[in-house]
Amino acid sequence: MDGAAELVFCVNGRKVIEKNVDPETMLLPYLRKKLQLTGTKYGCGGGGCGACTVMISRYNPITKRIRHYPANACLLPICSLHGAAVTTVEGVGSTKARIHPVQERIAKCHGTQCGFCTPGMVMSIYTLLRNHPEPTLDQLTDALGGNLCRCTGYRPIIDACKTFCKTSGCCQSKENGVCCLDQGINELPEFEEGNKTSPKLFSEEEFLPLDPTQELIFPPELMIMAEKQPQRTRVFVGDRMTWISPVTLKELLEAKVKYPQAPIVMGNTSVGPEVKFKGAFHPVIISPDCIEELSVVNHADDGLTLGAGLSLAQVKEILAEVIQKLPEEKTQTYHALLKHLGTLAGCQIRNMASLGGHIVSRHLDSDLNPLLAVGNCTLNLLSKEGERQIPLNEQFLTKCPSADLKPGEILVSVNIPYSRKWEFVSAFRQAQRQQNALAIVNSGMRVFFGAGGGIIRELSIAYGGVGPTTICAKNSCQKLIGRPWNEEMLDAACRLILDEVSLPGWAPGGKVEFKRTLVISFFFKFYLKVSQILKTMDPVRYPGLADKYESALEDLHSRNHWGTSKYQDVDPKQLPQDPIGRPIMHLSGIKHTTGEAIYCDDMPVLDGELFLAFVTSSRAHAEIVSIDLSEALSLPGVVDIVTEEDLRGVNSFGLLGEPEKLLETQEVFCVGQLVCAVVADSEVQAKRAAKRVKIVYQDLEPVILTIEEAIRHHSFFHGERKLEYGNVDEAFKVVDQILEGEIHMGGQEHFYMETQSMLAVPKGEDQEMDVYVSSQFPKYIQDIVAATLKVPANKIMCHVKRVGGAFGGKVTKTGIMAAITAFAANKHGRPVRCILERGEDMLITGGRHPYLGKYKAGFMNDGRILALDVEHYCNGGATLDESLFVIEIGLLKVDNAYKFPNLRFRGWACRTNLPSNTALRGFGFPQSGLITENCITEVAAKCGLSPEKVRMMNMYKEIDQTPYKQEIDATNLTQCWKECMATSSYSLRKVAVEKFNSENYWKKKGLAMVPLKFPVGVLSTAAAQAAALVHIYLDGSVLVTHGGIEMGQGVHTKMIQVASRELRMPMSNVHLRGTSTETVPNANVSGGSVVADLNGLAVKAQAAFDESISLSATGYFRGYESHMNWETGEGHPFEYFVFGAACSEVEIDCLTGAHKNIRTDIVMDIGHSINPALDVGQIEGAFIQGMGLYTIEELKYSPQGVLYTRGPDQYKIPAVSDVPTELHVSFLPPSQNSNTLYSSKGLGEPGVFLGCSVFFAIHDAVRAARQERGLLGPLKLDSPLTPEKIRMACEDKFTKMIPRDEPGSYVPWNIPV
Ligand SMILES: Cc1cc2nc3c(=O)[nH]c(=O)nc-3n(C[C@H](O)[C@H](O)[C@H](O)COP(=O)(O)OP(=O)(O)OC[C@H]3O[C@@H](n4cnc5c(N)ncnc54)[C@H](O)[C@@H]3O)c2cc1C
Ligand code: FES
Ligand code: FES
Repeated sequence: MDGAAELVFCVNGRKVIEKNVDPETMLLPYLRKKLQLTGTKYGCGGGGCGACTVMISRYNPITKRIRHYPANACLLPICSLHGAAVTTVEGVGSTKARIHPVQERIAKCHGTQCGFCTPGMVMSIYTLLRNHPEPTLDQLTDALGGNLCRCTGYRPIIDACKTFCKTSGCCQSKENGVCCLDQGINELPEFEEGNKTSPKLFSEEEFLPLDPTQELIFPPELMIMAEKQPQRTRVFVGDRMTWISPVTLKELLEAKVKYPQAPIVMGNTSVGPEVKFKGAFHPVIISPDCIEELSVVNHADDGLTLGAGLSLAQVKEILAEVIQKLPEEKTQTYHALLKHLGTLAGCQIRNMASLGGHIVSRHLDSDLNPLLAVGNCTLNLLSKEGERQIPLNEQFLTKCPSADLKPGEILVSVNIPYSRKWEFVSAFRQAQRQQNALAIVNSGMRVFFGAGGGIIRELSIAYGGVGPTTICAKNSCQKLIGRPWNEEMLDAACRLILDEVSLPGWAPGGKVEFKRTLVISFFFKFYLKVSQILKTMDPVRYPGLADKYESALEDLHSRNHWGTSKYQDVDPKQLPQDPIGRPIMHLSGIKHTTGEAIYCDDMPVLDGELFLAFVTSSRAHAEIVSIDLSEALSLPGVVDIVTEEDLRGVNSFGLLGEPEKLLETQEVFCVGQLVCAVVADSEVQAKRAAKRVKIVYQDLEPVILTIEEAIRHHSFFHGERKLEYGNVDEAFKVVDQILEGEIHMGGQEHFYMETQSMLAVPKGEDQEMDVYVSSQFPKYIQDIVAATLKVPANKIMCHVKRVGGAFGGKVTKTGIMAAITAFAANKHGRPVRCILERGEDMLITGGRHPYLGKYKAGFMNDGRILALDVEHYCNGGATLDESLFVIEIGLLKVDNAYKFPNLRFRGWACRTNLPSNTALRGFGFPQSGLITENCITEVAAKCGLSPEKVRMMNMYKEIDQTPYKQEIDATNLTQCWKECMATSSYSLRKVAVEKFNSENYWKKKGLAMVPLKFPVGVLSTAAAQAAALVHIYLDGSVLVTHGGIEMGQGVHTKMIQVASRELRMPMSNVHLRGTSTETVPNANVSGGSVVADLNGLAVKAQAAFDESISLSATGYFRGYESHMNWETGEGHPFEYFVFGAACSEVEIDCLTGAHKNIRTDIVMDIGHSINPALDVGQIEGAFIQGMGLYTIEELKYSPQGVLYTRGPDQYKIPAVSDVPTELHVSFLPPSQNSNTLYSSKGLGEPGVFLGCSVFFAIHDAVRAARQERGLLGPLKLDSPLTPEKIRMACEDKFTKMIPRDEPGSYVPWNIPV
């Protein structure tokens, strides 16, 4: 072994030599902090978001081939990179040198908003193009499967990437051999694709061509090194950990004998997350490097032998090749494995993770182990004692010592036998999201009939997700041997399996009844599939399936997406240089794609900088008996621990009424409450020390977690908020029917890609401090920091260059954390940085309020609703934050698009022991609107009418009055509705959906359309003020500063457009720096869809003024008239209304609860768009965020109030595979002029609500399924409408078969809050 090895690798073509490498270092912090390559971003640290994607290239001296693959830098130990070439976004292209076509096209196609996910996207596509310069659409969506974007809704990113595909511009659907352009959408020819009159949002003609010869070559030095260097084990010794990289099998075995406990790290995708999130520690790590025997691919007579060191991506490629060459009967297991390899994790993880690591890890939700087990695979092991084979069977999977690897033994390869004639293997899985999500339940099933005859000779079934490891239903299978493959066998099998694979009600992961149902639903699918094959093999003997059942076997998910946007071109008379109304690219678009856009944590480390890490409460309601800081303080690098005592006199601050404490060391009111903050020399030291702070709690009563508990305890933040219009009680007396119902809606995590970040820098003079922070509200940060430091606001300068997504979540909690960080900086006279990890961020910061809506509707038999009495309860969490405001906005918007002549709305914000919930895009309306729409859906069902008919009947028409007596002109609402009906071909498709449903039993389609009236405004004139500052320099260049924050919505871009028009100078003359309290004082929060409106008016006012008399002056907009009197229930709270409508179609799988978004059409009335590209982006992004809210995003809390879902592995936001296959957005031609900015409308928020069209489309599909099964009663579906809820609502013989637990007889794993 080599004593003190040197680590040598290349980054962007430059050689890096590390002599004293710390084996605990991952590539991501190394790139960001050591090499200052900050383009690669931190989004989660666990391989789940793709923000840290880089390309790894390795040269194989034996095959002489270079392999390029994408990888997550956050899970890549740098010691594993010896001899590798790393390419980061900076190496792909930059504005200083040359922009790469991938970067150019993503920017110019408007594929960036906040830009935080963009470098990762660029790297995924760049790597794809290195391997496939003309990729197919499938390869493209596959390549993006491991990258999350919270802003764009993916469509523009897909559009950009499609320009590299051979055929672009169409859906590339090869169904029936015809593409969409020839057959019309859904074979409905009347749709005008893309409306020929509509201009395009980008122009392909100006794109740089992709020239593969221009790419960075693999460093020749590394190639020579690989060819020439004598091969010997490398050892890297760190403070706490030793890394051993053997290069031969012999050395590997020697190392394993010497360190039998040391894990063999291959991809580090299993060991890495355990170390990072579960506190595992390994003093020694063995990581084999390029050992040939671990990469074998051997085709033998009995099957395929694959080396344990092959990556899952390589296994996928090999299997895909093999199935092309071999007869189908031999490749059953390979087909099944391929199916799961298509959805297992994202591309990055599949390229890092090894087959051996996957098998040996034996994760309970492993996708491959159930298949390998039923496929009778064997593991080829090796130790100093020699070789041996063990079966990959139940004993191995349950880690039974006699069937497991022995210490000192390694897995060399896996033998996967060929299947035989009359043998069938299938794979099943259901996850919360289609791709890149661990399975809730998965399964591998195999049956062998011998020489035909339809009698079961062998049967193997294994499940993942239903126990601590993969579970085999061995006894059930044994009992079924000898039985014919028929309905009786099916029935017996379901009962046996349910008995054998039993799950207790409290099982970890929850969803117990769903899992039980999936277990037998999968078997039923297997039964159908095999029956169908048997029929094709022997039609005489096997009758096969009823036609209606056949679609049960079809795959639900198509990966090819296409979309259109229809907007109005500018007036031909408009001057060509006037940018208003044109689809101008986001000002920072190119910098987002090159990684040059600077976010808070990208700022270089300052001299003497410290890091701050929070210690949070682990109890929902408790007295803190004692806090022991001694051990934490004694650790190296720890400078201080800030507690409540330090903050005496300044420990609370209020934004909206009730002051909130910064730190709490006496009584805690939720898990995740800030208790104290450790300040240390480095992030690692601060976080290590934070874990050593010992807190003793005494639990207190009551612990209120759910809305129902809050109602029971009368735990509210204030009295009720109430609004009444007409006479509800009288109206109830005259209506034909009355219904009462309720709907529960779960919360939502902001999941901005950039976690909470701040850096406080004392200036050393006059108590001045610069605070750099990722926040929507610099003035608030300034105020709270000033109050905490007991200095006037003029000493605190708050700077926000840009924000990597905020959505409402970067105001109140950010302020508190910034104040504590600034306090520490002030106390020590040193800069202090605080960057939350994803898990901490999700735990501490809260999100959208969960809601309970109760309603009583009085209506006529024709569907007219005459009376509505609604109650809203939101789960506000432990502090007031913005909960009251959310309730108020929810109430003011509860009518959505409807004129209810008599109504009563009441709302309460519940005080509970959860982290405080706060603003999130839409601010109460997405919840309130859903409650109303749900009520309408129920009314429609009662009247036997379609919901769309009832919606239309009750809608506002022309000039009317809202419940708070503000005038409304609803002409454009009707217009949007009609336009949406027409463009979506609603009526034709409704018929098509009904036909589909009558022909398919296990798959159902649903179609739904919802209208939107979104009042825009911030309820107070003061909150709608804005200011701007424009300097004109003598060389003619212009500097604009305004109070709005750039958080992805493109406000800075719009402001430059405004300045350019007003000053009549080209946009290139105008520059915009970040936002700062130094230049524009007292700016309001950026939020509520009005940032561009208000600041634009300020810029406009200023620029016009400026032009005539001064070269530097401020502009000011005093805000829209806005007031609301809750006593009288009257007011003018909003400035104007955004109208819209969305129609969505889905298909559901009644057996698994999966759903597919087939198509969405959105029509919006947005007035005169200032920038249609940005506006389409806002609508689509919000729509996808809403779709996530209503269908897949599910926060889970323990019965003790602990948030389980603390990262992208547990909490699923929409990924690229969730985007509707077709997404069409169009704007209504502008018809009304107003006093808004160039008659434009704010669009940041309204689209979220339109996501509920998907909810109601699923609702429609479920209803169809239930009707066919004779279930005609009311249908109660809560939000989010997850696979679990869909499956359990499609009741059938399987849901009836499962055992149910008595409520109260067990403590469930999680509770709905
Ligand atoms: C974000 C993310 C998403 C994921 N999604 C999915 C998913 O959808 N479906 C799914 O099934 N899995 C999923 N996984 C799990 C993933 O498949 C496994 O983590 C991976 O296969 C482990 O392989 P590895 O090479 O990285 O293992 P490592 O972490 O390198 O090693 C894991 C273990 O295997 C042992 N080991 C490795 N090789 C050998 C050998 N040759 N001989 C003996 N022991 C060995 C090691 O000692 C270690 O204990 C996901 C993981 C992540 C991080
Ligand atoms: S930061 Fe690496 S995947 Fe999220
Ligand atoms: S642009 Fe993708 S996360 Fe913001």
